[in-house]
Amino acid sequence: MGFYSEFILPRCLDWTMSTPQLASYRQEVLSEVSGEVLEIGFGTGLNLSYYPQSLTTLTIIDVNPGMNSFAQKRLKNSSITVDSRILNGENLPMADNSFDSIVSTWTLCSITNVDKALQEIHRVLKPGGKFFFIEHGLSAQPQVQIWQNRLNPLQKIIGDGCNLNRNIKQLVGHHLQLVTLDQFYAPKLPKTHGYMYKGVATKA
Ligand SMILES: C[S@@+](CC[C@H](N)C(=O)[O-])C[C@H]1O[C@@H](n2cnc3c(N)ncnc32)[C@H](O)[C@@H]1O
Repeated sequence: MGFYSEFILPRCLDWTMSTPQLASYRQEVLSEVSGEVLEIGFGTGLNLSYYPQSLTTLTIIDVNPGMNSFAQKRLKNSSITVDSRILNGENLPMADNSFDSIVSTWTLCSITNVDKALQEIHRVLKPGGKFFFIEHGLSAQPQVQIWQNRLNPLQKIIGDGCNLNRNIKQLVGHHLQLVTLDQFYAPKLPKTHGYMYKGVATKA
């Protein structure tokens, strides 16, 4: 992992992703999470304060040690005990059917082999368990898609592998059963970067 990914990016992401608007989405996504919980792509820990105190266990993973060390100050101040690990979401060591809830916020855009990660999410989720997510991705408007495809190579460099043009509905729906899904443009963000997919999917 290079200097940019490990030291610069965590600071930039922590700043750009801590807006009140994104905080309100975090709160909505996390309000129904329960039981034994896994978060994929914990980043700098911006979700931590929105987890219900009633959850049983919280395991968090991120592939980038720089994100994890940045998250430590939030983890130390949290009243929830957290099992924090440096792991790639494409290859989880957890047993099948381990978690009641799995969370991913703005991470499916960045995982290199996102299908492999979704297979792993399906595998470690208990039957009837829920996957809670909010992600940005491919717009429903063809003229926006054109710009998302044009800008994608640049975005992947700046965002350390982040893609603008993933169809999150198709990706999640291929592996899990969608229960709810809202697709919308987040206000104040460029349409290329702010087309959101917020939902819940289950393992039937
Ligand atoms: C845009 S950040 C979002 C961070 C956090 N979820 C949030 O909402 O603030 C994407 C995160 O996904 C992590 N990530 C990327 N690929 C990953 C992978 N294969 N496995 C686990 N985490 C990954 C990155 O290191 C980064 O922390």
